[in-house]
Amino acid sequence: MVIVTLILTFLFLFQTGFSVVDKFNQFQSISDGTTLISKDGSFELGFFSPGNSSNRYVGIWYKNIPVRTVFWVANRCSPINDSSGLLTINNTGNLVLWYQNKSVVWSTSSSKQATKPIVQLLDSGNLVLRDEEDGNSDTYLWQSFDYPSDTTMPGMRLGWHLRTGLKQRVSAWRNWDDPCPGDFTAGIEYDPLRHTFPDIYILQGTSKYFRTGPWNGIRFSGTPEQRPNPLYSYDFVYNDDEVYYTFNLKNKSVVARIVMNQTTSHHDRLTWNDEDKAWQIYSTSPKDNCDRYGTCGANANCIINDNPICQCLRGFNPKSQEKWNLMDWSEGCVRNNPLNCSEKYKDGFIKFSGLKLPDTAQSWVNKSLNIKECREKCLSDCSCTAYANSDIRGKGSGCLIWYGDLSDMRQNTDDVNQLELFIRMSHLDIEKGNADIKMRALIAVAVIGGVSGMLLLGYFICRRGSKDRNQTITQNGDQDEDLELPLFSLPSIAKATENFSIDNKLGEGGFGPVYRGRLEDGQEIAVKRLSINSRQGVNELKNEIKLISKLQHRNLVKLLGCCIQGEEKLLVYEYMPNKSLDYFLFDQKEGKLLEWLKRFQIICGIARGLQYLHQDSRLRVIHRDLKASNVLLDNEMNPKISDFGLARTFLGDQTEEKTTRVTGTYGYMAPEYACNGLFSTKSDVFSFGILVLEIVSGKKSRSFHDKNHVTLIGQAWALYKESNSFELLDKNLQESDHNIQKQVLRCIHVSLLCVEQSPVDRPNMSSVVVMLGSESELPQPKQPPCYFTEMDLAKVERSSMNPESSSTNHMSISLLKAR
Ligand SMILES: *[C@@H]1O[C@H](CO)[C@@H](O)[C@H](O)[C@H]1NC(C)=O
Ligand SMILES: *[C@@H]1O[C@H](CO)[C@@H](O)[C@H](O)[C@H]1NC(C)=O
Ligand SMILES: *[C@@H]1O[C@H](CO)[C@@H](O)[C@H](O)[C@H]1NC(C)=O
Ligand SMILES: *[C@@H]1O[C@H](CO)[C@@H](O)[C@H](O)[C@H]1NC(C)=O
Ligand SMILES: *[C@@H]1O[C@H](CO)[C@@H](O)[C@H](O)[C@H]1NC(C)=O
Ligand SMILES: *[C@@H]1O[C@H](CO)[C@@H](O)[C@H](O)[C@H]1NC(C)=O
Ligand SMILES: *[C@@H]1O[C@H](CO)[C@@H](O)[C@H](O)[C@H]1NC(C)=O
Ligand SMILES: *[C@@H]1O[C@H](CO)[C@@H](O)[C@H](O)[C@H]1NC(C)=O
Repeated sequence: MVIVTLILTFLFLFQTGFSVVDKFNQFQSISDGTTLISKDGSFELGFFSPGNSSNRYVGIWYKNIPVRTVFWVANRCSPINDSSGLLTINNTGNLVLWYQNKSVVWSTSSSKQATKPIVQLLDSGNLVLRDEEDGNSDTYLWQSFDYPSDTTMPGMRLGWHLRTGLKQRVSAWRNWDDPCPGDFTAGIEYDPLRHTFPDIYILQGTSKYFRTGPWNGIRFSGTPEQRPNPLYSYDFVYNDDEVYYTFNLKNKSVVARIVMNQTTSHHDRLTWNDEDKAWQIYSTSPKDNCDRYGTCGANANCIINDNPICQCLRGFNPKSQEKWNLMDWSEGCVRNNPLNCSEKYKDGFIKFSGLKLPDTAQSWVNKSLNIKECREKCLSDCSCTAYANSDIRGKGSGCLIWYGDLSDMRQNTDDVNQLELFIRMSHLDIEKGNADIKMRALIAVAVIGGVSGMLLLGYFICRRGSKDRNQTITQNGDQDEDLELPLFSLPSIAKATENFSIDNKLGEGGFGPVYRGRLEDGQEIAVKRLSINSRQGVNELKNEIKLISKLQHRNLVKLLGCCIQGEEKLLVYEYMPNKSLDYFLFDQKEGKLLEWLKRFQIICGIARGLQYLHQDSRLRVIHRDLKASNVLLDNEMNPKISDFGLARTFLGDQTEEKTTRVTGTYGYMAPEYACNGLFSTKSDVFSFGILVLEIVSGKKSRSFHDKNHVTLIGQAWALYKESNSFELLDKNLQESDHNIQKQVLRCIHVSLLCVEQSPVDRPNMSSVVVMLGSESELPQPKQPPCYFTEMDLAKVERSSMNPESSSTNHMSISLLKAR
């Protein structure tokens, strides 16, 4: 257990003559100028003056962090204006802060009687008062963790203790030199008497500003990005006695905290970066406009990638169409047809998936009802408007129902556990909805039928190609070398991924879903479950994978092994904790974290990885689907190219220069590839050029265009012609340091060379690596004639694409060209 460091301080005080001796304890006070340090030396309690203020406060801060970071303040709103402050324990076991020995500025109010009260600053940063006579060292008379300031520390609770009525809420500092609470606070709200469901809210004054969404047993329904991760574990406890959220760090050498910030009005999870000597934002709430409470008004869904972002839910339409058209969504949406609630014309429910669950202020929960009972409960109550499972673990359990309007919903985009919400509708809307669904199903069947026919054709073509290739490999003698690649057993992978549980699903890649897993020995892995039938023989596929596994480079994701058993074809990769580049690049908040130097390092890393694939490895792999989401980041944000070699493995075309199957992503594809199926290392160079423009500008190539419909390439070219290239730089990067400017300009210049129309004119990756790393004169780029406007892009897409599948513009597509 942790012990006081009061003794040291005592000696110091004794010398300065400030100590107040008490008959119960050898030492009882801290005066201005002295401090109390936790046993492990990481935290310090003492007097401080915040910002430019000269006022004195008692606070606790990190001892080993050079930027003074105070995470708890005692006298938040009652500062002392000189250095006469004295913090003592009185003999009933309360902390008392004195001003000039005569007036009490602040005190704790423990009503428990203590015979021998002592103070300790624990290694967690918790300041506790306890009775030394009390054998139980875990019971405190009082603890600072129960009275948070603006910060939630690991092990601290954001909660509500129903027996004692104690609410642990955080409140932002008014400003950087005044710790008195500002108007942003965060904490758990609900009504235990009415059995409403608890939710964490950020309030501005008394109005709701952000909501995490109800806890669903695994996470909050509005923050799907918060999922099991290597940095911290978290828990939400909800029972008859108490409700709280808490988190704990997995790696004790990481320093992290959550803080409510008045200036930015954000609730930020920060980690200390020792290299940069600064706090970095790990995640933040609210993260976008859809996170702002009630952006779209009642009964509407906020879809961040839509334009406009607010859409009425199915079965509803804008209350005021006029205001809605002017993007004033405050009045929300109303039902097309009122609920009937009669026996004869029974209302029904429409299922919505992937929504952040509505505000639970008007809700009711019972953890022991199942979903069927829940439905009945809702139907039997005319004011009930929706229901859902309160816990989605396993098959789902518990019943959560809503009354009245449904507010503050959004579409979760990266939701691995699709939540289901059943919204009550008039029978008129249900019938109409069913008709819509039937129609769509018919269309889908037609499309799938068409596509699979084409795939079959592709199978025969690929088959021929792969035979040829096999011969080539044998001639090269590659098969004679020892090809060591661990073959995992299906049970071991199933165990590692908890039977491919939905909780472990990381996302969906071009060739199938990816799961996170942990092997018996503790190693974290990512498992790609190949969804397409590779149409290769098992031995052929194994050989192919073994060859790919020989590609090892620090900028390529490492293939650890594979598992091919029956229908299952699994690839096992190293696990990358920091997601993919697009996650950072195209996000307002995360984009800020990616400063220029890091971006430049990422560009160079990708270039080196690609150079290796093209030139240095024996296989000469053409990636064919290079894009931001295929660049993963390790914990130091080093880029690692993923999905390389897969196109080759599955589509088989090493010696061919023309393919009948175009795989890739529009917006990244070289014109000769998209239009004519011609590919070469130079088509990868083209994609690299686009990727660099995206990294520099923070804009997506495919979805970005200005008001004249000029695309990212078009913009880059126009600015280059005006010698104004620096304008393209992401507005998130405000620096205009001369050194940075040179690097930025060079990157844009190189990318314009990479996106030239003719493959011959594009540099190869070795030249790109050299160009990026030197200051030598660069050749002038020619005008990129293709992809200049949105219309050009659309034309290219039309010329190569089956019209029915044109909704996949941001996904990897893999389709057959009719010839
Ligand atoms: C704090 O003091 C410094 C130096 O006197 C001054 O430059 C700065 O503007 C002050 N900040 C505020 C917020 O008053
Ligand atoms: C300090 O505060 C006390 C009590 O609030 C007040 O009487 C005194 O004038 C203040 N002193 C200065 C120097 O502001
Ligand atoms: C407060 O009291 C202590 C001990 O009684 C004394 O040493 C100290 O000078 C006093 N301080 C002030 C500011 O009166
Ligand atoms: C100790 O301090 C508390 C809080 O200020 C106060 O209520 C209590 O009366 C004090 N006890 C004694 C013996 O001074
Ligand atoms: C813990 O974090 C430190 C510093 O970030 C790092 O060096 C170390 O490898 C981490 N340990 C584990 C087990 O992840
Ligand atoms: C709030 O955010 C601003 C801007 O990022 C930062 O300068 C400030 O230190 C933050 N305040 C707290 C209390 O973290
Ligand atoms: C219920 O629906 C029926 C048929 O649509 C209608 O005649 C009746 O008036 C409705 N009742 C209410 C309360 O809306
Ligand atoms: C929840 O449902 C169970 C089973 O129907 C019932 O026994 C219990 O009283 C209900 N709890 C509340 C708070 O309504």
